[in-house]
Formats: sequence, structure tokens, C-alpha cells
Amino acid sequence: MKIGFIGVGTIATCIIEGFCGFGEEHYFFLSPRNAAKSAELAAKYGNITVCESNQNVVDESDVVFIAMLSPNCPEILRGLDFRSDQQIVNVVANIPPEDIRDAIGDVGGFSHVIPLPAIQHREGPIAAYPESMFLRELLSPLGTLVFADILDDIRTMQSITALIAAFYDTLHNLTIYAETQGLARDKAASFMSAFFSSLCKNFEKTSYEELAAEMTLGGLNMMALDLLKKNNVTKAWADVMMPVMERIKKA
Ligand SMILES: NC(=O)c1ccc[n+]([C@@H]2O[C@H](COP(=O)([O-])OP(=O)(O)OC[C@H]3O[C@@H](n4cnc5c(N)ncnc54)[C@H](OP(=O)(O)O)[C@@H]3O)[C@@H](O)[C@H]2O)c1
Repeated sequence: MKIGFIGVGTIATCIIEGFCGFGEEHYFFLSPRNAAKSAELAAKYGNITVCESNQNVVDESDVVFIAMLSPNCPEILRGLDFRSDQQIVNVVANIPPEDIRDAIGDVGGFSHVIPLPAIQHREGPIAAYPESMFLRELLSPLGTLVFADILDDIRTMQSITALIAAFYDTLHNLTIYAETQGLARDKAASFMSAFFSSLCKNFEKTSYEELAAEMTLGGLNMMALDLLKKNNVTKAWADVMMPVMERIKKA
């Protein structure tokens, strides 16, 4: 497949690495900006061409990823001629996808996708709307594809991604605690990585009620939960979601 990228910054690079770092089955056509990143990718992989213009990317591609960061993104897209047989995958998260859709005009298909940088390692979630066989075949090798039923579900998933920094900060504080107890940072990181990953996997498969029932009455987990609840810590994570969501909706 011929895949174009308009905008080659952080997230586009991660997506391209996710495709190319595991085999070169597609051909990629990159916009000239950002020149340094595009050139670096083209030097690294044999199936990447840096185009002379954004229109050139559109002309060469069956699928076009919109991955630029510009307040003028809709105007820039309005200046391009897309074809009615093309699939457009929008990853722009700071402008309403409805505005991007309108600017692009009549195309074969339009999807809105929110990947995370972990896509470069073929890990992490990819929120996508609407569900389609096209997106399933294209993106499911790159991570855990979660299709939204309605566009607003993408915004809900996007709001949860605002917790990355808070999550790392929590892990960092736990590491500092572990170090004060004499546990080396790398051992603490390995242990926490396996520990929290396994908890997340359990949570996906099991109801909250069943998981709560596993807690020993009066045990250490109950003690830690009670202490955190006294400070509203566990619910505070969910409480910050509404302000985050309001900002996403205002974008
Ligand atoms: N980073 C993430 O984890 C992430 C995740 C999901 C979604 N997103 C969304 O993806 C979009 C891009 O984010 P990013 O983090 O990749 O930003 P970024 O690293 O700043 O990259 C944006 C790129 O867009 C390019 N650009 C600006 N105007 C352009 C134009 N007219 N034509 C072609 N390219 C143009 C910039 O080129 P120059 O460098 O030459 O200015 C830059 O390389 C944003 O809407 C963001 O919300 C990001």
C-alpha cells in the first residue's frame, strides 16, 4: 500500500517506526516538513520517499495520514486536492475532527485515530473511529486497536491519555520510596512494570466486584486503600477527567 504523511513530527515518526521497524511491507511518501526527521527516516528505511510538497504526498498515496501541528491545518488541507478513492486517517488531536473532515472534502473514507508514541514499539492502545476492515487491517499490527462506537467515545479515550504524566509521577514517587528502603531503581522499575501490567490485564478480564472480593479483609491492600481514600487519592484521578474533557471539547 502507498501511505502518505502530511506532517512528519513526533507522532508521525512513531507511526512510521511502528510500520517500518518491523518489516517494510508498505511504501511511504512524506511531506517535506520537518525536513530533518523526513530525511532521517528516508535514510533509515528503503521504502520511504520525501516529497516536494503536501500535494505531491496526496498524489502519490492510497492512504493519507494527517499528522501536522498547525493552527491553520483546515486551511492548509482545503488547499489540497484529495481523490475520491483515497482513505484519510486523521491523527490531529487539537482541532475537531469534524473540521478536518470538512476541509478535506469528498474522499473514499475518513477515520479519526488517536495513537500514542508506544505505537513505535507496536504497543499501547490506538483509539479509532469509525470501525472498518480497512483500519483493522492497517493498524491492528501496530497496537491494541479500540474502535469507538461514536466520535465522542474517541474524546473519552483521548481524555484518559492526559494521565500519562501523572502516572509516571506516581511511579517515580514509588521508586523514590523503594530506593529509601534500599531497593535499586532498576529493580524497582522492573518489578513495578510487571506488577502494574498484570493488574491492568486482570482488570480487563474481571469485574471490579470480583477483584474487590479478592482483597483480604483487614489486610495490607485494604489498609493502603483506606489511607488513599481518606485523602481522596483514588477518586481524584477520575475527578480530573471532566476539566480535561471540557478542554478537549473546546479545542
Ligand atoms: N505526540 C503525540 O503523542 C500525539 C498523539 C496523538 C495525536 N497527536 C496529534 O498529532 C498532531 C501532531 O502532533 P506531534 O506531536 O507529532 O507534533 P510535532 O512533533 O510538532 O509535529 C508536527 C509536524 O507538523 C509539521 N507541519 C506544520 N505545518 C505543516 C504544513 N503546513 N505542512 C506539513 N507539515 C506541517 C511540522 O513541521 P515543522 O517541524 O517543519 O514545523 C511538524 O514536523 C497534533 O494534532 C497532536 O495533537 C499527537
